[in-house]
Amino acid sequence: MTILYPKRLIEVDLPIKRISAHARREKSIRHGHISTLHIWWARRPLAACRAVICASLWIDPVDALCPQVFRDKAAAIITKFAMIASADGCCSPENWGKWKVLAKPENALDTQNPTHLNTLRYLLLDFIADFANWDNSTQPDYLEAARALTQAAHEALGGEVGTRPMVVDPFAGGGSIPLEALRVGADAFASDLNPVAVLLNKVVLEYIPKYGQRLADEVRKWGQWVKEEAEKELAEFYPKDPDGSTPIAYLWARTIISEAPDDGTGIPVEVPLMRSLWLAKKAGRYRALRWVRDASGIVQTETIEVTYADGVTRKVRRPLLEIFEPKSEKEVEKGTVARGSATCPVTGFTTPVVSVRRQMQTRQGGAADARLFCVVLLKQNTQGRFYRLPNLQDIEAIEKAVLALREFTSLDLIPTEPLPPQGSLGFRVQLYGMKNWGDLFTPRQLLALITLTRLVKKLENKEIQELGSDKELANAIQTCLSLAVDRQANTLTSLSRWDIARENNQGLFVRQAIPMLWDFSEASPLSGSSGDLDGALAWIFDVCKSNAHLEGIGGQTVQTSATHLYYLPDDAVQFLCTDPPYYDAVPYADLSDFFYVWLKRTLPKNLLSNFSNELTPKDEECIVDEVKGKDKAFFERTMGKAMAEGRRVVAPNGIGLIVFAHKSTAGWEAQLQAMIDAGWIFTGSWTIDTEMGNRLRAQNSAALASSVHLVCRPRENSDGTLHEEIGDWRDVLQELPQRIKEWMPRLTEQGVVGADAIFACLGPALEIFSRYSSVEKASGEIVPLREYLGYVWAAISKEALSTIFKDADTSNFEEDARLTAMWLWTLSASDGDKNKTAPDEEDPSDDDEETTGKKVKITGFSLEYDTARKIAQGLGAHLETLTHLVEVKGGKARLLPVKERAAYLFGKEGLNTDVPKKKAKGNKQLSFTGVLDELPEDEHGEIKITRIGETVCDRVHQAMLLFNSGRSEALKRFLVDEGIGKDANFWQLAQSFSALYPAGTDEKRWVDGLLARKKGLGL
Ligand SMILES: C[S@@+](CC[C@H](N)C(=O)[O-])C[C@H]1O[C@@H](n2cnc3c(N)ncnc32)[C@H](O)[C@@H]1O
Repeated sequence: MTILYPKRLIEVDLPIKRISAHARREKSIRHGHISTLHIWWARRPLAACRAVICASLWIDPVDALCPQVFRDKAAAIITKFAMIASADGCCSPENWGKWKVLAKPENALDTQNPTHLNTLRYLLLDFIADFANWDNSTQPDYLEAARALTQAAHEALGGEVGTRPMVVDPFAGGGSIPLEALRVGADAFASDLNPVAVLLNKVVLEYIPKYGQRLADEVRKWGQWVKEEAEKELAEFYPKDPDGSTPIAYLWARTIISEAPDDGTGIPVEVPLMRSLWLAKKAGRYRALRWVRDASGIVQTETIEVTYADGVTRKVRRPLLEIFEPKSEKEVEKGTVARGSATCPVTGFTTPVVSVRRQMQTRQGGAADARLFCVVLLKQNTQGRFYRLPNLQDIEAIEKAVLALREFTSLDLIPTEPLPPQGSLGFRVQLYGMKNWGDLFTPRQLLALITLTRLVKKLENKEIQELGSDKELANAIQTCLSLAVDRQANTLTSLSRWDIARENNQGLFVRQAIPMLWDFSEASPLSGSSGDLDGALAWIFDVCKSNAHLEGIGGQTVQTSATHLYYLPDDAVQFLCTDPPYYDAVPYADLSDFFYVWLKRTLPKNLLSNFSNELTPKDEECIVDEVKGKDKAFFERTMGKAMAEGRRVVAPNGIGLIVFAHKSTAGWEAQLQAMIDAGWIFTGSWTIDTEMGNRLRAQNSAALASSVHLVCRPRENSDGTLHEEIGDWRDVLQELPQRIKEWMPRLTEQGVVGADAIFACLGPALEIFSRYSSVEKASGEIVPLREYLGYVWAAISKEALSTIFKDADTSNFEEDARLTAMWLWTLSASDGDKNKTAPDEEDPSDDDEETTGKKVKITGFSLEYDTARKIAQGLGAHLETLTHLVEVKGGKARLLPVKERAAYLFGKEGLNTDVPKKKAKGNKQLSFTGVLDELPEDEHGEIKITRIGETVCDRVHQAMLLFNSGRSEALKRFLVDEGIGKDANFWQLAQSFSALYPAGTDEKRWVDGLLARKKGLGL
């Protein structure tokens, strides 16, 4: 027998809607948030981490095995919190009332009373939801209560008095999970394969908690020193204008030589590669560039000699630009580069992408010989940004910087470490001749970064000595300042852009990749504006200061692979909480090399042991990246080992929580399989949607993309040995529907529906299967997880359908109705956020040919194909035979919008389904969409319906289209004369569709309109 343990809260419930809302909101929070300390990719929101850690550490008071001592302490802690909260109103208004009620003596909780225990459970969950709020995360009342609850649970579960539960995150990344573990009163142990991630964890878990405010103050002091010294060294390279205006950004374009045939001048045109000619584009403020033309409209050029980075000096014609204030968007011409091809503004000749690449390749990507085309200024005592063309002073300063940089070339300060091989996940720049990390910067950017590097390094040798014997504090300060240099590196690259809407500099890592950028913005590190050194230092200071409340409760961090947690003995940990890499989503090691090459040069000597290699370790990194020979099998193998190692270190009565966010079902099935093979039993699963707005749930997107939190327990005996038991397939199958039947209504009650509910059912369903080392059929054949999952989907679908169709007999509906209903339900959001606007989905890095292109407008309701297939399978429907309902293309399956079904439904091939709106003949009031206009009409001008849909779903869709066409007579004939409207199933399905079609869609309007007609037609 596996050991018995009381369930933790996360194994019974979780307020995912409220947690998701806080996690989404947190994305817009900047000041003091650890994400501003340094870039790390795919950071988990702290709100979600905090909530799931509390819910995993705290025991469910209702559970029969919950020690009474925990119930008593939890009741006392939460009551004390309620008294403070209701007195000082520290919590959010929606919860205030509840705490007030609890604070009244007559409402004291009786922990012997089962009803009160239920109340206690929900009070703890409410507390968790409220504590997920960023604003409450540093509130002493919340912190004290959370820490007391963590301690009470730990001791009640057998933890030694005075010790704390140990939380381990072996894929710690930027440190969100361990930081939150510390915050809620646990000991945190963080490791990662990547030395940059380990360094970030060191700052967050060790330095900040050890030195608190002192570290913040010292960072400020020594940061100021670095800044003053940098100003002395760099001012001449970033001169102010004679009128005192300060350049904040220099806008550059890489160039190519146009390959147009000679036009008789013998001098080719140098084409600046510019995505657009806009400089500022926001309401009421337009600035742009335009080509200087003569009276006949010919673009003017100046002839100059340029020595390019390939060492060749060429005489070229440079097209002239001027700045103007457009009155409308139309006045601004297009840029010169689209899909990687460059069009010459003078001749109109387009140099194809292959030639652009070939030219770039001879010039290491063209950053060093790019053309400066504009300077952005701040003026004294005047608001806003000002734009001017470059002048001689600018050019001289740049030339001086090139000369100054030469002095450092022999000192190994320029990062000449190689970029990852061409074709590596997320990287495009190698195609354009960038070979090493130094190629990502212009000479002046390199000079600035090298200067900062030298200054930070200098602290170690002499300046910080005045701190006396506290060498570690000196290390902490130098490390924090090294992170400020990294922040500057992110801004000072030739892959940083000028944001025309915000009028500021945007750093390189707006996403998890390094794509090519044709025109770029060079921020001035001394500008006193966005992207400068002062800002970089202020962000670091802010994080140190805001987290100073962690003083005295530090964690530990180690560099190692999650497959080998050598620092932890068996069974030493109470909670494994981790967020492993998501398959092929992010090439962490390659991306982090961007910072690694600078950190090698800025960190204190005695922190360099993890930085002694040329670049970050890659071999053991658990991702899929075919160029590196890392395929699916490698990922599964490595993840399997990591999951087994995680189970080894967790105590038999401990708990695990694995976050997984890969959107392909194949990806998460691989993850589940790895966990089962490693000896984990699933006991729960929750989705937390951390995306802004309704992006993931919109009708045009795949819904199953939010992050899934898989709760699990070691499948062990009490002595820590693996529990080996073979399960009987029949027993497993028999238990499954019952489990889903119990679980689903609870979710519905809480408003958890759609994909969220599917995932919330997955954990309990998997518990049945994963409690055995293997499950066998009577024949002795082992049942693979994949096969079981088919049954799980079927059970979930069946249960979901009975929820959707209330208590109607679902066998009255054919497979198309069931599939449509289940599909829409899967896409439905539980928190009614469908009407929020989706965030701007423009790809910000649309600079090379393969990522540019027109966005295709998708209509219909789309799911990932694999998900759709599973839903269909679960319902016994077959997508292959439902082509009139679902379209499969690539990895996506689209439930067709009803309009696109018209030809099928009314039996006229080629029926035009997208005729623009027009007025009905002879009826001035009525306008209709002409979807059905091509159908034959009778003598009264009404549509003749020659085909009646075979299924209830088809008939409802036909009626919806008739309603939309405005042909009320035809609709009446269809419903009344043909008798369609006399079928109760018809109205039952229409009613369900009304609840399922998302608000704002045509379908929702039409089906509601149809329902509204029912009474009038006497039906
Ligand atoms: C999804 S990220 C973790 C993000 C983190 N939760 C946060 O909020 O910042 C996954 C991490 O796994 C690390 N990683 C990849 N392979 C690893 C391995 N074999 N052992 C340990 N860490 C690994 C990556 O370096 C990356 O930091």
